[in-house]
This record gives sequence, structure tokens and C-alpha cells, in this order.
Amino acid sequence: MCGIFGYLNYLVKRDRRFIADILINGLHRLEYRGYDSSGIAFDGDDVEGSDTKQSLKSRRACVVVRQKGKVEELEHVVRSLENIDWDAEFTVHVGIAHTRWATHGEPNAVNSHPQRSDEQNQFVCVHNGIITNYKDIKQYLTNKGYKFESETDTEVVVKLVKYLYDKHKNENISFQKLIEMACSQLEGAFALLFKSTHFPGELCATRRGSPMVIGVKCADQLATSHIPVMFSKDLSNPRFTKDLFNHQNSKDSRNDIQLVETTSANLRGVFSPPLMITDQSASELAVTGNDRSIEYYFASDASAIIEHTNQVIFMEDDDLAVVKNGALTIHRTQHGEVTGQSAIREIHELKIELQQIMKGNYKYFMQKEIYEQPESVVNTMRGRVNFSAKKVVLGGIKDYINEIRRCRRLILIACGTSYHSAVATRQLLEELSELPVMVELASDFLDRNTPVFRDDVCIFVSQSGETADTILALRYCKQRGALIVGFTNTVGSSISRESHCGVHINAGPEIGVASTKAYTSQFLALVLFGLVLSEDSISKEPRRKAIIDGLQQLADLIKKVLECDKKIREYAEALYKESSLLVMGRGFNFATCLEGALKLKELTYMHSEGILAGELKHGPLAMVDHLMPIVMIVMDDPVKTKCMNAYSQVQARGGQPIIICNEDDEELIKLTSRHIAIPRTVDCLQGILCVVPMQLLSFHIAVLRGYDVDCPRNLAKSVTTA
Ligand code: F6R
Repeated sequence: MCGIFGYLNYLVKRDRRFIADILINGLHRLEYRGYDSSGIAFDGDDVEGSDTKQSLKSRRACVVVRQKGKVEELEHVVRSLENIDWDAEFTVHVGIAHTRWATHGEPNAVNSHPQRSDEQNQFVCVHNGIITNYKDIKQYLTNKGYKFESETDTEVVVKLVKYLYDKHKNENISFQKLIEMACSQLEGAFALLFKSTHFPGELCATRRGSPMVIGVKCADQLATSHIPVMFSKDLSNPRFTKDLFNHQNSKDSRNDIQLVETTSANLRGVFSPPLMITDQSASELAVTGNDRSIEYYFASDASAIIEHTNQVIFMEDDDLAVVKNGALTIHRTQHGEVTGQSAIREIHELKIELQQIMKGNYKYFMQKEIYEQPESVVNTMRGRVNFSAKKVVLGGIKDYINEIRRCRRLILIACGTSYHSAVATRQLLEELSELPVMVELASDFLDRNTPVFRDDVCIFVSQSGETADTILALRYCKQRGALIVGFTNTVGSSISRESHCGVHINAGPEIGVASTKAYTSQFLALVLFGLVLSEDSISKEPRRKAIIDGLQQLADLIKKVLECDKKIREYAEALYKESSLLVMGRGFNFATCLEGALKLKELTYMHSEGILAGELKHGPLAMVDHLMPIVMIVMDDPVKTKCMNAYSQVQARGGQPIIICNEDDEELIKLTSRHIAIPRTVDCLQGILCVVPMQLLSFHIAVLRGYDVDCPRNLAKSVTTA
């Protein structure tokens, strides 16, 4: 929720137009995180002022522009600003920007970010998250005479910084110290970027519970190893640190920093990059030598950075990053609170390509992502499935397989669509692992204080890897000694870093707010996990082989399902004026019903329910009559007879469902005038094919209703507040 973006150029000449464009472009990339309103802050012209650290007599004004609505509306306002010299050049400049998903205060300009300390914009800040104790701080500052213009929790933060500055300015206090002092008063979750007219050319960034990535681009295109980084003494995660020093050390002569070369094997495989730079003795260390031309990009998400640089550092909770005189330093603001943090800030080389975050020939990201599924499922399997040897290897968990096989239970924990992928694969995981498998919604799991034991294996499934409820559940389980396995789509995300081991689903960046290709890849990655768990069972070999054969066909079969698009659009035309749509099924496809109904709800704002067909006569049947639109999933699998019973019950009440069925199930096709016939695959993989028509149906209904498919109202892609 909320996207933040910052840009700092040091000894690289940039004009104001260029800077504004970079900020606005960054917001466009992050818009899927929130689109209620947006804003930017950049340097204005020099103004008279004595209260400044600059040696110049004047100081630079800070221009703040905020606008309700989507980023294009902000862009329009920025472009039409009068009295701005867009050609003015800056050798050093800091700009910050924000796109908002409203939590405190209605979405209007004054509640938008950047929030400011005062009318001169002496301190401005952008924020992602929620400050839970903001009322107390607000009361304190109000008593000190501060007036608040917005209803946001963020304004409290920036005014607190100003209050501290006024209190300590005679002590020559640094920007870093100020932010450190302010943040020590904050409770809740946040990622914050600060800019100040008192500290020109300096930027402070911090995070606790919300993501922040720093992109580093040296103008002279130096290699990664010459982008210096920093530190940490706090080696708090023994599982991680055990292997950490098992590397070959070398010395970077330019910066006197230890370079630690490592292999993916001793860094938990897929979760770690091939290069780390650390100085184990220093508590902090500057990033650049002086007088090097450099640009820094700060963002909630790497997709906003990739077009500028692929060299990124993922900040950890309680890191405070400061750029001053072109050098980046990272400081710890608090120790011991957050468990499981790695001790090293790594330079990651991002593998994302720019075209992966562009729409290409599609009108919507969601549409592109639905159509990408034949490719994304292949990427999930790439390098992991040997089709001829009928073998699956998951490098990220291979050292833990025996521990997992011996566990008391597998507990899969997630939210929303990711939870549905866990529901979809539960039956197969039970079958292949012969272990008890629990599937839990993260929020409910926490509400119940669910008992967790050291010999439990807790699996966290998350596209973003940043969902607050899922992260809180992860930390809860970790504290109780369980083995933590992450299944995420985002390299460097909190979940991937805080897990002991895991699997990247490799679906590629998912920008559409409604999850599509991440669902099918999560589903698939969990199937692969089941196959690996059952590898030592001879009796399961025929089943494993059948599934692996099914996997080999999967991409082609998804392509065939996508060919039904035209017919599905026709059904959408028949349905788009309805106010309700029920989705029924059972067995392996109960999850498809839940996921299909969720897609309909979030995209079309229709009432929709995923109904377990076995539960029909225990209540939901009362809703059925000749007017109620229904989709039923009836596959030719072990629960077909039961599904057919449900179909008869629905028909008996006048219901005329659209049936999603196997294309070779002639008997059923003859019975129904409205159907979407899709190819057959192994029962446990059929849900990957069945969900595609539901994705397309929801997409078309939303388009026909005139809704913005990529940005459904009231939602945001990544829910980083609990
Ligand atoms: C629905 C959707 C959400 C997410 C949920 C969890 O289309 O995208 O329900 O699945 O918010 O998000 P992640 O997977 O990022 O943890």
C-alpha cells in the first residue's frame, strides 16, 4: 500500500525537468501500490533565509505538489505549474515522491504526501505504513503549539522532526541524528523518506515493517564490486550465519572493504545473490569515495528502479540509510527487536528486464499477465524439473528436505490469492507427503494464537513477500522454533530474507493488482514441493511420473484454454449487468471457486461467492433460482459424480449454470447449452487450467462495466499494514 520513490543525483548535472520526470515515472511504476492520490517534492529556486546550514546566504525552496487521483493527474498539474524554471540545473539534488493508498484521512490533496513540517516545507516526508501511536505524538505537538493541516499519521512524523530540529539546532545536529531521534518515538509500520531545506543534497530513508530498496548507479559504470557498501555487527540469525563465513575472502583496495565472494549453494540457493560486501568489524561504513558521480534511487519496490540500475540494496527493518556528500551509509537504529534479520546488506543484481514491467501490446497489465501464464509456468519449472529423468530439484530447500519430511505438520500460511494456492494444493501435499497439512489465513492464524511447535514446518506463500499479516505470522512461528519456508515471487522481499529456506516462484513481476500468474506459479511451485517430498516413496512413483508428464504439457494446455477467450467474453457480455455470480465446485477445484469468486469481487465489484458444492444443501442452495447467475466447475475427476449431483440440485431450482468442463467430456457437454470446455490434465493440476477462464471472465466483466482493471477501487497490490 502506498509507493514511495526518491531520487538523488550527486555530481551529475540534471535539470529540474529531468528530475520531475524521473519522480513521476517512478510513481507510474509504483501506482499499482496505491492510486488514491500522489505527490512530489523537489527543489525550487533559492530564497532568502538565514536558518540554514548552507554556506550560501540564501537557501533553496522546496516545492511540494500534491493531487487527488491517479499519477497522470499529478503529472498534469506538475506540467502546468507556472513560474518554474524547468531548465534550471542541479549538480546535487534530492526529490521525493509518493502514490497513496489512503489509510488515515480521505484521499484529497492535503492528505497526500509529501507531508510537510510547515508552510516553508522545511522538512518533507513520504511514508508507507501506519504509525500506530500518532495520536499521542500529535497531542504532544499540539500542546507545544503545532497546528496540523491533514488527517494523516504522516504529518505527525514530519512535524516531530521539525520540533526536534528547533530544539537541537544550536547543537549542530545532523539530519541522521534527527531522523534517528524521531523514529525512536514511532510505533507501527513504516518506510519513510525525508528531505529538508536545512540539509540540502541529503536524503534519509528508514524502514520498519514496510519495504524499501535502494538502487545505486555510478555514472562511470563501475562494476558492482566497486560500489562500496557497509556493515553490521549484529549476527542474530544463527541458521543464516552458520554458513556465512564459509566464503572466500578478498580485499577491495579502493575502499578497504572486505569483499565476500560466495556461491549460491552456501547462501540458501535461490534466495541469495552471488556477491556480498561486508565489513564485519565496522558498525557502519560509507558507500562511495568522495567526488564520484553517483545517482541513488529509493523505492518501495525494485520495479521502479530497474530501468535506471540493476544494482540494488534491500534495506532491513530499523536500517537508517543516509546519503550525504554523495556517500550512502546505513546505520542501525534499534537492535534485537526484530528476529531473523540477516546481518549483511547485500548488493543484488536484479534480473528483471524492463519489458517485464511494461504493458507491451496489451491494454492492461492484468490481461498481459493472464496471457503470460504459458511462459510463467515454464519459468517456475525452469532448472527444477527434469522431464526425462522424471525428477524435481528445488535448490532453495534441498538441504532441509529431510528435516521437512520428519516434521509434525506442514502449516501453509498466506492471505488472499496466495492462500487459495495453498488450498488448491493441500490435498496433493497430504497425498504425497503423508503428513498432516494445515492451511491458514495469516490474520486468523494470529488471532487464534495458534499453537506452533519446534517440529512444525511453516510455509509462507506470498507474491510480494511483504504482506504484513503473513510476515507477522512468520515471525510468530519463527519465535516458536518452527522451520520457516518461504514461497515468494520477490527476490529480496522480507519473507524471502526472513525464511530459513524457500522457493522463488519466478513468475516475473506482477503489476496488475489482481493476482493471476502468481497464483498459477504458486500453485505449481507447491506441486513441485510435494513431488520433492515424496521422492523417497517408491509406491508413489507412478503418481509422481504422471504428474511430471502433466507438467510437461502444462504450458501448451494453458495456451489452449486462452483460445476460449472469445467465448468467455460472450458470457461476460451476458453477465456484466448482473449483481451477483456464484462459483461452485469441489475437490481439487474448490480453491478455483474461491479464487474465481475473489477475482470477480475485486475486479467487477459484484457479489460473488466460491461455494463448496458439498455444502450446497447446507445453506447456499437457498440462493439459487432461475435468476441467479452461476458458474460450476465439473471436471472429469474423482468428485465428478458428486459435482453432477450438485448440478442436478441447481437445475431442479431453475438454475442454469455455465459449466467449466473437460473438452472430451461429451456426455456432460451434451447436457448443457452453456459451457467452457478446456483440456484435460492430471486431476491435481486441473485447477491451474480451470482458473484461467475465471480470470478472463472477471477481466471481461470489469472492462464491460468500465472499471480500471489494473487498479480496482479501494485496493492496493501489496498490503504492508496488518
Ligand atoms: C488478489 C490478491 C490478494 C493477494 C493478497 C496476498 O488478487 O492479489 O488477495 O493475494 O493480498 O498478497 P501476497 O501474495 O503478496 O502476500
